[in-house]
Amino acid sequence: MIQSSIGEPQEELRASLSSQAHLWISDLDVWTRDAIAELLTPDELTRARTLRHPAAQQNYLVGLALVRAVLSHYAELEPSTWTFSASRFGRPEITGPQPIPKLRFNLTHTRGLAACVVTATADCGIDVEELERPLKPLRIAEHSFAPEEFSDLKDRALPELRERFFSYWTLKEAYYKARGSGIPFRLGGARFELTGESGVVFAPADDEETRSENWQFALFRPTPGHVLSVALEPGVENRLELRCFGNSSDGSATAFAQLGLFAERSTETVTA
Ligand SMILES: CC(C)(COP(=O)(O)OP(=O)(O)OC[C@H]1O[C@@H](n2cnc3c(N)ncnc32)[C@H](O)[C@@H]1OP(=O)(O)O)[C@@H](O)C(=O)NCCC(=O)NCCS
Repeated sequence: MIQSSIGEPQEELRASLSSQAHLWISDLDVWTRDAIAELLTPDELTRARTLRHPAAQQNYLVGLALVRAVLSHYAELEPSTWTFSASRFGRPEITGPQPIPKLRFNLTHTRGLAACVVTATADCGIDVEELERPLKPLRIAEHSFAPEEFSDLKDRALPELRERFFSYWTLKEAYYKARGSGIPFRLGGARFELTGESGVVFAPADDEETRSENWQFALFRPTPGHVLSVALEPGVENRLELRCFGNSSDGSATAFAQLGLFAERSTETVTA
């Protein structure tokens, strides 16, 4: 059984989700094969062997290991006993064991990093991207982002161009992952504005049945090479504080400590 290595009893951690969302960030390389094998189910380990690409296999294994280890910080349950089912668009939700603890999560992984966001009930989404990912930011922005977003990017030079491009990109992906709908081909529907030094302003697409006031966003630079965004839909009345945890210094994959990580950008609190 994983002890709450963050030093907080499971019940208290779970209770804190009434006013908080939790962000768990992990280095991909700290997870040994043995640690992963202890956390995953035999079926998951078999499925991993069918993934040919070593990076895809590592992402899959570490992502699941992180989710299972993290969820067991909130409930007296062995990591391998959690069961999940995926929506039509692939979004996993907890389906057991019964009675199902009031927990939601979303996972993201890329080269070097995996991260997971946990809430009690609010829709939540998360996306991390590597700044050096080989792609042409302006070409993608011109075809897939909102015109205002492309205008904001088009005259910027590297490295600021990439940092801002991936800020928009991760905010959009986190939002669509929170909605659980899958990422639309054109990401220009939902629009973001990066205001001043630390603000984010959001407008959903016209045909998306939601209101901007229901949403909260936060954008982090968890390492110099990664941008990470979190999207939460707690509703107007119940703003959530975001608390961050990361691998603790003892080097083991399942031990976490609270991080002094602050969002570089976030949505302003909206008063109704
Ligand atoms: C899954 C998807 C959101 C991935 O985004 P990505 O940036 O490549 O990957 P990330 O690392 O950020 O996230 C992957 C994790 O998100 C979760 N996820 C999968 N589908 C999801 C969805 N629709 N919404 C939210 N989260 C999802 C899973 O935990 C997944 O982990 P896994 O790949 O280890 O299984 C994107 O590929 C997508 O839009 N898929 C939907 C496909 C779809 O619409 N299918 C229609 C079938 S009818």
